Amino acid sequence: MKTTLLTLAIATLGLVPISAAELRIYTERHYDADLKVFERFTAESGIEVKLVKAGANELIARIESEKASPQADLLVTVDAATLDRAATAGLLQPHGSEALAGRFPAGLAAADGTWVPFTMRARVIVHAKDRVENPPTTYADLADPRFRGNILIRSSTSPYNQSLLASILAADGPEVATAWATGVKNNMARPPQGGDRDQVRAIALGLGDIAVTNSYYLGLLATSEDPKDRAALDAIRIVFPNQSDRGTHINISGGGIIKGAANSAEALKFMEFVTSPEVQALYQTLTAEFAVTKDIEPTEIQKSWGSFKPDFTNLHQLAENTEEAIKIFNLVGWQ
Ligand SMILES: [Fe+2]
Repeated sequence: MKTTLLTLAIATLGLVPISAAELRIYTERHYDADLKVFERFTAESGIEVKLVKAGANELIARIESEKASPQADLLVTVDAATLDRAATAGLLQPHGSEALAGRFPAGLAAADGTWVPFTMRARVIVHAKDRVENPPTTYADLADPRFRGNILIRSSTSPYNQSLLASILAADGPEVATAWATGVKNNMARPPQGGDRDQVRAIALGLGDIAVTNSYYLGLLATSEDPKDRAALDAIRIVFPNQSDRGTHINISGGGIIKGAANSAEALKFMEFVTSPEVQALYQTLTAEFAVTKDIEPTEIQKSWGSFKPDFTNLHQLAENTEEAIKIFNLVGWQ
Protein backbone atom coordinates (compact mmCIF):
# COMPACT_ATOMS: atom_id res chain seq x y z
CA MET A 1 0.00 0.00 0.00
CA LYS A 2 2.79 2.37 0.96
CA THR A 3 4.62 1.66 -2.28
CA THR A 4 1.55 2.36 -4.40
CA LEU A 5 0.99 5.68 -2.69
CA LEU A 6 4.61 6.67 -3.14
CA THR A 7 4.57 5.74 -6.82
CA LEU A 8 1.40 7.75 -7.31
CA ALA A 9 2.86 10.74 -5.53
CA ILE A 10 6.00 10.64 -7.65
CA ALA A 11 4.02 10.20 -10.84
CA THR A 12 1.95 13.24 -9.89
CA LEU A 13 5.12 15.29 -9.62
CA GLY A 14 5.99 14.20 -13.13
CA LEU A 15 9.24 12.54 -12.10
CA VAL A 16 8.48 9.05 -13.36
CA PRO A 17 8.02 8.61 -17.09
CA ILE A 18 5.82 5.55 -16.64
CA SER A 19 2.79 5.43 -18.91
CA ALA A 20 1.30 8.44 -17.10
CA ALA A 21 -1.73 10.05 -18.69
CA GLU A 22 -0.84 13.28 -20.40
CA LEU A 23 -2.38 16.28 -22.05
CA ARG A 24 -0.55 18.23 -24.74
CA ILE A 25 -1.68 21.86 -24.96
CA TYR A 26 -0.91 24.42 -27.66
CA THR A 27 -1.54 27.77 -26.02
CA GLU A 28 -1.45 31.42 -26.91
CA ARG A 29 -1.87 32.45 -23.27
CA HIS A 30 1.12 34.01 -21.57
CA TYR A 31 0.23 34.21 -17.89
CA ASP A 32 2.11 32.61 -14.99
CA ALA A 33 -1.25 31.91 -13.36
CA ASP A 34 -1.84 29.18 -15.95
CA LEU A 35 1.07 27.19 -14.54
CA LYS A 36 -0.62 27.17 -11.13
CA VAL A 37 -3.83 25.93 -12.72
CA PHE A 38 -1.96 23.19 -14.61
CA GLU A 39 -0.20 22.10 -11.42
CA ARG A 40 -3.49 21.85 -9.60
CA PHE A 41 -5.00 19.89 -12.50
CA THR A 42 -2.10 17.43 -12.48
CA ALA A 43 -2.32 17.03 -8.71
CA GLU A 44 -6.06 16.27 -8.89
CA SER A 45 -6.15 14.14 -12.03
CA GLY A 46 -2.71 12.59 -12.32
CA ILE A 47 -2.63 13.91 -15.90
CA GLU A 48 0.65 15.49 -16.84
CA VAL A 49 0.45 18.70 -18.89
CA LYS A 50 2.86 19.42 -21.74
CA LEU A 51 2.86 22.91 -23.21
CA VAL A 52 3.79 24.63 -26.42
CA LYS A 53 3.36 28.43 -26.29
CA ALA A 54 3.17 30.48 -29.49
CA GLY A 55 1.04 33.00 -31.34
CA ALA A 56 -2.31 31.88 -32.72
CA ASN A 57 -1.29 31.87 -36.39
CA GLU A 58 1.75 29.73 -35.66
CA LEU A 59 -0.25 27.26 -33.56
CA ILE A 60 -2.96 26.91 -36.21
CA ALA A 61 -0.35 26.39 -38.96
CA ARG A 62 1.25 23.73 -36.79
CA ILE A 63 -2.03 21.91 -36.16
CA GLU A 64 -2.77 22.11 -39.87
CA SER A 65 0.60 20.55 -40.75
CA GLU A 66 0.18 17.81 -38.13
CA LYS A 67 -3.32 16.85 -39.26
CA ALA A 68 -2.30 13.32 -40.22
CA SER A 69 -0.82 12.72 -36.77
CA PRO A 70 -1.90 15.37 -34.23
CA GLN A 71 0.88 16.29 -31.82
CA ALA A 72 -1.38 18.23 -29.47
CA ASP A 73 -4.74 17.56 -27.81
CA LEU A 74 -6.06 20.99 -26.90
CA LEU A 75 -5.82 24.41 -28.56
CA VAL A 76 -6.07 27.37 -26.17
CA THR A 77 -6.34 30.92 -27.53
CA VAL A 78 -7.09 34.42 -26.28
CA ASP A 79 -9.92 35.13 -28.67
CA ALA A 80 -13.05 33.62 -30.07
CA ALA A 81 -12.09 34.48 -33.66
CA THR A 82 -9.10 32.12 -33.62
CA LEU A 83 -11.16 29.28 -32.18
CA ASP A 84 -13.95 29.82 -34.71
CA ARG A 85 -11.33 29.95 -37.46
CA ALA A 86 -9.79 26.66 -36.29
CA ALA A 87 -13.25 25.07 -36.07
CA THR A 88 -14.20 26.25 -39.58
CA ALA A 89 -10.93 24.82 -40.91
CA GLY A 90 -11.95 21.45 -39.45
CA LEU A 91 -9.13 21.38 -36.91
CA LEU A 92 -11.30 20.92 -33.80
CA GLN A 93 -13.71 18.20 -32.73
CA PRO A 94 -16.87 18.65 -30.59
CA HIS A 95 -16.34 17.83 -26.92
CA GLY A 96 -19.71 16.05 -26.89
CA SER A 97 -20.49 16.80 -23.24
CA GLU A 98 -23.94 18.26 -22.55
CA ALA A 99 -22.96 18.98 -18.95
CA LEU A 100 -20.05 21.11 -20.14
CA ALA A 101 -22.11 22.91 -22.78
CA GLY A 102 -24.68 23.91 -20.14
CA ARG A 103 -22.20 25.85 -18.04
CA PHE A 104 -22.03 29.01 -20.18
CA PRO A 105 -24.39 31.85 -21.06
CA ALA A 106 -25.89 31.52 -24.55
CA GLY A 107 -23.48 32.51 -27.30
CA LEU A 108 -20.33 32.39 -25.19
CA ALA A 109 -19.31 28.90 -26.42
CA ALA A 110 -19.25 27.40 -29.93
CA ALA A 111 -22.76 26.24 -30.85
CA ASP A 112 -21.38 22.95 -32.21
CA GLY A 113 -19.33 22.18 -29.09
CA THR A 114 -15.95 22.58 -30.81
CA TRP A 115 -14.74 25.00 -28.15
CA VAL A 116 -15.68 26.48 -24.80
CA PRO A 117 -14.62 29.71 -23.06
CA PHE A 118 -12.27 29.54 -20.06
CA THR A 119 -12.26 33.23 -19.06
CA MET A 120 -13.73 36.51 -20.27
CA ARG A 121 -12.19 39.95 -20.69
CA ALA A 122 -13.58 43.39 -21.50
CA ARG A 123 -11.78 45.99 -23.64
CA VAL A 124 -12.15 49.13 -21.55
CA ILE A 125 -11.18 52.80 -21.72
CA VAL A 126 -9.25 54.41 -18.88
CA HIS A 127 -8.52 58.11 -18.48
CA ALA A 128 -6.52 60.44 -16.28
CA LYS A 129 -8.63 61.20 -13.22
CA ASP A 130 -7.69 64.87 -13.04
CA ARG A 131 -7.11 65.86 -16.65
CA VAL A 132 -10.22 64.75 -18.56
CA GLU A 133 -13.47 66.62 -18.02
CA ASN A 134 -15.68 64.77 -20.51
CA PRO A 135 -14.18 61.33 -20.93
CA PRO A 136 -15.10 59.12 -23.88
CA THR A 137 -18.10 56.92 -23.19
CA THR A 138 -18.05 54.92 -26.43
CA TYR A 139 -15.37 53.42 -28.68
CA ALA A 140 -16.54 55.92 -31.33
CA ASP A 141 -15.54 58.78 -28.99
CA LEU A 142 -11.90 57.64 -29.18
CA ALA A 143 -11.90 58.89 -32.78
CA ASP A 144 -13.37 62.30 -31.86
CA PRO A 145 -10.99 65.16 -32.83
CA ARG A 146 -11.41 66.62 -29.32
CA PHE A 147 -9.00 63.91 -28.16
CA ARG A 148 -6.29 64.81 -30.72
CA GLY A 149 -2.84 63.83 -29.46
CA ASN A 150 -4.27 62.13 -26.40
CA ILE A 151 -5.02 58.48 -27.09
CA LEU A 152 -2.68 55.70 -25.94
CA ILE A 153 -3.26 52.33 -27.59
CA ARG A 154 -1.08 49.40 -28.57
CA SER A 155 -0.16 48.09 -31.99
CA SER A 156 -2.71 46.77 -34.48
CA THR A 157 -0.88 43.44 -34.48
CA SER A 158 -2.49 42.72 -31.11
CA PRO A 159 -5.40 40.27 -31.33
CA TYR A 160 -7.16 42.48 -28.76
CA ASN A 161 -7.26 45.46 -31.15
CA GLN A 162 -8.07 43.27 -34.14
CA SER A 163 -10.99 41.84 -32.22
CA LEU A 164 -12.19 45.33 -31.22
CA LEU A 165 -12.13 46.56 -34.82
CA ALA A 166 -13.76 43.31 -35.98
CA SER A 167 -16.59 44.02 -33.52
CA ILE A 168 -17.00 47.55 -34.93
CA LEU A 169 -17.07 46.05 -38.44
CA ALA A 170 -19.75 43.59 -37.35
CA ALA A 171 -21.83 46.31 -35.68
CA ASP A 172 -21.41 49.25 -38.06
CA GLY A 173 -19.85 48.09 -41.34
CA PRO A 174 -16.62 48.94 -43.20
CA GLU A 175 -17.16 52.69 -43.72
CA VAL A 176 -17.68 53.43 -40.04
CA ALA A 177 -14.87 51.03 -39.08
CA THR A 178 -12.39 52.69 -41.47
CA ALA A 179 -13.35 56.19 -40.30
CA TRP A 180 -12.94 55.03 -36.70
CA ALA A 181 -9.47 53.55 -37.26
CA THR A 182 -8.41 56.73 -39.10
CA GLY A 183 -9.72 58.94 -36.29
CA VAL A 184 -8.03 56.93 -33.54
CA LYS A 185 -4.77 56.85 -35.48
CA ASN A 186 -4.94 60.66 -35.85
CA ASN A 187 -5.63 61.02 -32.12
CA MET A 188 -2.69 58.91 -30.93
CA ALA A 189 -0.41 60.45 -28.33
CA ARG A 190 2.53 58.45 -29.74
CA PRO A 191 3.17 55.65 -32.22
CA PRO A 192 1.78 52.40 -30.78
CA GLN A 193 4.22 50.65 -28.47
CA GLY A 194 4.16 48.28 -25.52
CA GLY A 195 1.33 46.20 -24.11
CA ASP A 196 -1.94 47.27 -22.53
CA ARG A 197 -0.36 47.91 -19.13
CA ASP A 198 2.17 50.27 -20.73
CA GLN A 199 -0.69 52.45 -21.99
CA VAL A 200 -2.03 52.80 -18.45
CA ARG A 201 1.45 53.53 -17.10
CA ALA A 202 1.86 56.16 -19.84
CA ILE A 203 -1.16 58.07 -18.49
CA ALA A 204 0.56 58.28 -15.10
CA LEU A 205 3.70 59.54 -16.86
CA GLY A 206 1.65 62.27 -18.53
CA LEU A 207 2.25 60.98 -22.07
CA GLY A 208 -1.48 60.98 -22.85
CA ASP A 209 -4.80 61.19 -21.05
CA ILE A 210 -6.81 58.28 -22.43
CA ALA A 211 -5.86 54.63 -22.93
CA VAL A 212 -7.41 51.36 -24.06
CA THR A 213 -6.71 48.18 -22.13
CA ASN A 214 -8.13 44.77 -21.39
CA SER A 215 -9.85 44.81 -18.01
CA TYR A 216 -7.71 42.18 -16.31
CA TYR A 217 -4.53 44.21 -16.76
CA LEU A 218 -6.01 46.69 -14.27
CA GLY A 219 -6.24 43.81 -11.82
CA LEU A 220 -2.64 42.81 -12.54
CA LEU A 221 -1.49 46.40 -11.96
CA ALA A 222 -3.42 46.46 -8.68
CA THR A 223 -1.54 43.41 -7.42
CA SER A 224 1.81 44.36 -8.98
CA GLU A 225 4.91 44.37 -6.77
CA ASP A 226 6.01 47.63 -8.42
CA PRO A 227 4.60 50.59 -6.43
CA LYS A 228 4.63 52.65 -9.65
CA ASP A 229 2.05 50.28 -11.13
CA ARG A 230 -0.26 50.74 -8.17
CA ALA A 231 0.27 54.52 -8.33
CA ALA A 232 -0.63 54.44 -12.04
CA LEU A 233 -3.97 52.92 -11.11
CA ASP A 234 -4.61 55.70 -8.59
CA ALA A 235 -4.21 58.22 -11.41
CA ILE A 236 -6.94 56.77 -13.62
CA ARG A 237 -10.64 56.06 -13.85
CA ILE A 238 -12.23 53.21 -15.79
CA VAL A 239 -15.00 53.54 -18.40
CA PHE A 240 -16.97 50.57 -19.73
CA PRO A 241 -17.77 51.82 -23.25
CA ASN A 242 -21.11 51.67 -25.09
CA GLN A 243 -23.28 51.07 -22.05
CA SER A 244 -26.28 52.78 -23.63
CA ASP A 245 -26.13 50.71 -26.83
CA ARG A 246 -24.54 47.36 -27.70
CA GLY A 247 -22.38 47.09 -24.59
CA THR A 248 -18.65 46.84 -23.93
CA HIS A 249 -16.60 44.71 -26.31
CA ILE A 250 -15.73 41.43 -24.67
CA ASN A 251 -13.76 38.47 -25.81
CA ILE A 252 -12.98 35.13 -24.31
CA SER A 253 -9.96 33.01 -23.78
CA GLY A 254 -10.91 29.42 -24.40
CA GLY A 255 -10.05 26.07 -25.84
CA GLY A 256 -11.13 23.23 -28.08
CA ILE A 257 -10.10 19.63 -28.63
CA ILE A 258 -7.90 19.11 -31.67
CA LYS A 259 -9.43 16.73 -34.21
CA GLY A 260 -7.99 13.25 -33.88
CA ALA A 261 -6.26 14.06 -30.58
CA ALA A 262 -4.87 10.97 -28.88
CA ASN A 263 -5.80 12.33 -25.46
CA SER A 264 -9.26 13.75 -26.13
CA ALA A 265 -10.64 12.34 -22.85
CA GLU A 266 -7.90 14.14 -20.91
CA ALA A 267 -8.60 17.33 -22.88
CA LEU A 268 -12.29 17.14 -21.95
CA LYS A 269 -11.36 16.55 -18.33
CA PHE A 270 -9.23 19.70 -18.43
CA MET A 271 -12.05 21.74 -20.01
CA GLU A 272 -14.37 20.57 -17.23
CA PHE A 273 -11.72 21.38 -14.62
CA VAL A 274 -11.02 24.91 -15.91
CA THR A 275 -14.72 25.75 -16.02
CA SER A 276 -15.47 24.33 -12.56
CA PRO A 277 -16.61 26.91 -9.98
CA GLU A 278 -13.37 26.53 -7.98
CA VAL A 279 -11.04 27.21 -10.91
CA GLN A 280 -13.26 29.98 -12.29
CA ALA A 281 -12.99 31.74 -8.93
CA LEU A 282 -9.24 31.01 -8.82
CA TYR A 283 -8.74 32.62 -12.25
CA GLN A 284 -10.60 35.73 -11.13
CA THR A 285 -8.20 36.02 -8.21
CA LEU A 286 -5.02 35.16 -10.11
CA THR A 287 -5.49 37.10 -13.37
CA ALA A 288 -8.57 39.28 -12.72
CA GLU A 289 -10.19 37.81 -15.86
CA PHE A 290 -13.95 37.37 -15.52
CA ALA A 291 -15.52 33.98 -14.89
CA VAL A 292 -17.49 32.55 -17.82
CA THR A 293 -19.73 30.24 -15.85
CA LYS A 294 -22.79 31.29 -13.92
CA ASP A 295 -22.97 32.48 -10.31
CA ILE A 296 -19.31 33.19 -9.64
CA GLU A 297 -18.93 36.14 -7.29
CA PRO A 298 -16.57 38.83 -8.69
CA THR A 299 -13.47 39.66 -6.64
CA GLU A 300 -13.19 42.90 -4.66
CA ILE A 301 -10.93 44.37 -7.36
CA GLN A 302 -13.44 43.49 -10.08
CA LYS A 303 -16.28 44.93 -7.98
CA SER A 304 -14.34 48.18 -7.63
CA TRP A 305 -14.61 48.65 -11.43
CA GLY A 306 -18.41 48.61 -11.25
CA SER A 307 -20.78 46.36 -13.14
CA PHE A 308 -21.26 46.61 -16.89
CA LYS A 309 -23.25 45.39 -19.85
CA PRO A 310 -21.10 43.13 -22.05
CA ASP A 311 -21.63 42.99 -25.82
CA PHE A 312 -22.53 39.35 -26.48
CA THR A 313 -23.94 40.15 -29.92
CA ASN A 314 -20.98 39.65 -32.21
CA LEU A 315 -18.57 37.20 -30.58
CA HIS A 316 -19.13 34.72 -33.41
CA GLN A 317 -18.82 37.36 -36.11
CA LEU A 318 -15.28 38.29 -35.11
CA ALA A 319 -13.64 35.51 -37.14
CA GLU A 320 -15.24 36.59 -40.40
CA ASN A 321 -14.27 40.23 -39.78
CA THR A 322 -10.70 39.87 -38.52
CA GLU A 323 -9.06 39.75 -41.94
CA GLU A 324 -10.82 42.95 -42.99
CA ALA A 325 -9.90 44.58 -39.67
CA ILE A 326 -6.21 43.89 -40.36
CA LYS A 327 -6.59 45.35 -43.87
CA ILE A 328 -8.14 48.53 -42.46
CA PHE A 329 -5.37 48.90 -39.88
CA ASN A 330 -2.80 48.66 -42.67
CA LEU A 331 -4.76 51.01 -44.90
CA VAL A 332 -4.93 53.78 -42.30
CA GLY A 333 -1.32 53.27 -41.18
CA TRP A 334 -2.04 52.12 -37.62
CA GLN A 335 1.26 50.39 -36.88
FE1 LIG B 1 -3.22 39.52 -22.34
